[in-house]
Amino acid sequence: MAILFNQETQVFTLQTKNSAYQMKVADYGVLLHLYYGKRIDDCDLSYLIQRTDRGFCGNPYEMQTDRTFSLDYFPQEYSCFGIGDYRTDCVKIINANGSCAVDYRYHSYRIEEGKYSLQGLPAFYGDKTQGETLVIEMEDKNTGMKLELLYGILSEADMITRAARIINDSTETIHVMRAMSMCLDFPNDQLDWVHFYGKHTMEREFQRSRLIHGRQSICSERGTSSHQHNPFVILCDPMTSEDWGECYGFGLVYSGSFLAEAEVDQFHQPRLVMGISPEEFNWQLKPGEDFLTPEAVMVYSEEGFTGISHKFHYAITNHLLRGEWKDKRRPILINNWEATYFDFNRDKLLEIARAAKNVNIEMLVLDDGWFGKRDSDFSGLGDWIVNEKKLGGTLKALAEEINAMGLKFGLWFEPEMISEDSNLYREHPDWALRIPGRPGNVARSQFVLDFSRPEVVDGIQEMMFKILDEVNIEYVKWDFNRSISNYFSSGLPVERQGEIGYRYMLGLYRFLENLITRYPYILLEGCSGGGGRFDLGMLYYSPQIWCSDDTDAIERLKIQYGTSFAYPVSTVGSHVSASPNHQTRRRTPLETRGTVAMAGSFGYELDLSRMTEEEQEIIRHQVEEYKQNYELIHNGKYYRLSSPYEDCRATAWAFVSEDKKECLLCAVITKLQANPDAVIIKLKGLEPKRRYRISDKVYTGEALMYGGYLLPIPDEEYQSWRFYFRAEE
Ligand code: DGJ
Repeated sequence: MAILFNQETQVFTLQTKNSAYQMKVADYGVLLHLYYGKRIDDCDLSYLIQRTDRGFCGNPYEMQTDRTFSLDYFPQEYSCFGIGDYRTDCVKIINANGSCAVDYRYHSYRIEEGKYSLQGLPAFYGDKTQGETLVIEMEDKNTGMKLELLYGILSEADMITRAARIINDSTETIHVMRAMSMCLDFPNDQLDWVHFYGKHTMEREFQRSRLIHGRQSICSERGTSSHQHNPFVILCDPMTSEDWGECYGFGLVYSGSFLAEAEVDQFHQPRLVMGISPEEFNWQLKPGEDFLTPEAVMVYSEEGFTGISHKFHYAITNHLLRGEWKDKRRPILINNWEATYFDFNRDKLLEIARAAKNVNIEMLVLDDGWFGKRDSDFSGLGDWIVNEKKLGGTLKALAEEINAMGLKFGLWFEPEMISEDSNLYREHPDWALRIPGRPGNVARSQFVLDFSRPEVVDGIQEMMFKILDEVNIEYVKWDFNRSISNYFSSGLPVERQGEIGYRYMLGLYRFLENLITRYPYILLEGCSGGGGRFDLGMLYYSPQIWCSDDTDAIERLKIQYGTSFAYPVSTVGSHVSASPNHQTRRRTPLETRGTVAMAGSFGYELDLSRMTEEEQEIIRHQVEEYKQNYELIHNGKYYRLSSPYEDCRATAWAFVSEDKKECLLCAVITKLQANPDAVIIKLKGLEPKRRYRISDKVYTGEALMYGGYLLPIPDEEYQSWRFYFRAEE
């Protein structure tokens, strides 16, 4: 772990175990970016920047007659709008005189022990044995505005993190219109970019394309990170594959609207910026105030996408997830949503609980519909008062009865929402985000609460905590079922309306922090209509997130494949549901639903009380098998072995234990064929010379990895297998 500064060359070199990052204080304090890639020692790579007089590329005034230094094509650390760099930039400020320019130049630096944290915001963490921080202080000489660029190093994780703090040290009020978390310039590289798009019930689809001249972006302006685009992207060499080649992974530790924008400039140089969406953003900064961006994180790998995924999985597991449930075995749960939807009563819940206990499931989660007037999704949100009539008694009594069966009890909330038909709305109509005089936009018949106002957050928190104080609730599902629009807060003055989106997120994060601090024993599962807020920000509070409202095992192959690029298996909420599936009407074998759901934090979501003895026996086995393999699945290395986009015959993946002694190979047949092909899956991550036993057969690691494993000929559509290999002593 090292942060090096060479006084003579004025070059900073940041090193992690296998990567390095370099920047230089150049002429007149311009901070140039020099390098990001395989680990190098202190050197000065600025010789790679071609200094020449280029047409229509202006020069900072101080250069006088020297026309060979231009912000228009030089690689920069944090490019500013309005001073002659016309590429996508990091910071745009409207000054008191109406001008729109800021020119940050290097002032000084400091190095701190441990990785920095960000007040009020989620961020990766690392103590002084794991991390280090570099803060570079920049200044605009004209206005006195300051900027701190924060760099965190997590050496073992091979991760470099970034954030920026804009400080108004001037005497006048300014407006920040754009404040990105990071910028990265590449010299003369042709790059592909990979990103993950989707929709409700089909999140994180893999998409790879060549970066082309001009700007291309993915973004969310929905107030959440969204189903539509995930705030995680990969840039890679066009030759990079799953196991081989250079690539860079970038994630934003934020759950609101965001932008990830790439631009290839006139000299074929790609740039990537990432940060909060500038679309509805306008932050007033008075003298003495500062603005802190969320964190962006970067990893570099020369081992293809697998390398990026393993580094992200390691960093998330060891430096982002927190609390008791980070390491403790999570209970296998039954959720009543797809079993009953809103149509349940106490007897029905107890019937499901008994059936769950009978197959050794460990927790019952009561989903939507237990509170207020909530027998459909047209009403009731915001009224967090138990519907004792529907539950046939108090929630406490129900939880006690479930606990008495030997099951834990979990509960669903959607704390950020309000139904128009609710007592809360009748009492506090101004608590909803709505523009006065406009009818607005309803989605699922609900509005979003104005979490930019502390009193709104406090009001909902009080209702929720009252229930959590009274009832033995050991799991909370935190849902969010619409996108935000029609921003207007009656708690903010006109000139601060552009701050709502970001203040909303700060309010949400404060609430979540209070929740996990007060109830450290609660397992929190994030959710937004499935995976609409599956991001690094939410994972700081909830160690698992409901991956998708699409529980169809075959569609899940793609969803979980895409999710795995950044997010570890332990974070993926994944359940076995009914067949035919409620979203697609597809019929799949119960074993296959189990195989797919086991690649996650496992549970069930169907009416167990209606299942046959034979089906219950299969489930009992699945539960047992998952418990046995928990360590391997949650903490082993995850390998994608065949892509659901490229191989139409079967999708396969494997878990390999850290000591390489165990391997669980999972494969699902996605197409039946007459006169079928031999489907051979090549394993990864094994010890080549070790001998691995499966039943009465033994294979060497090299046979399994370089030759492969031959799948049996399937007997039925969507058949799947879980092959468990153990190394011989
Ligand atoms: C959306 C979630 O993703 C579902 O699992 C369920 O909790 C519903 N909301 C309840 O309204």
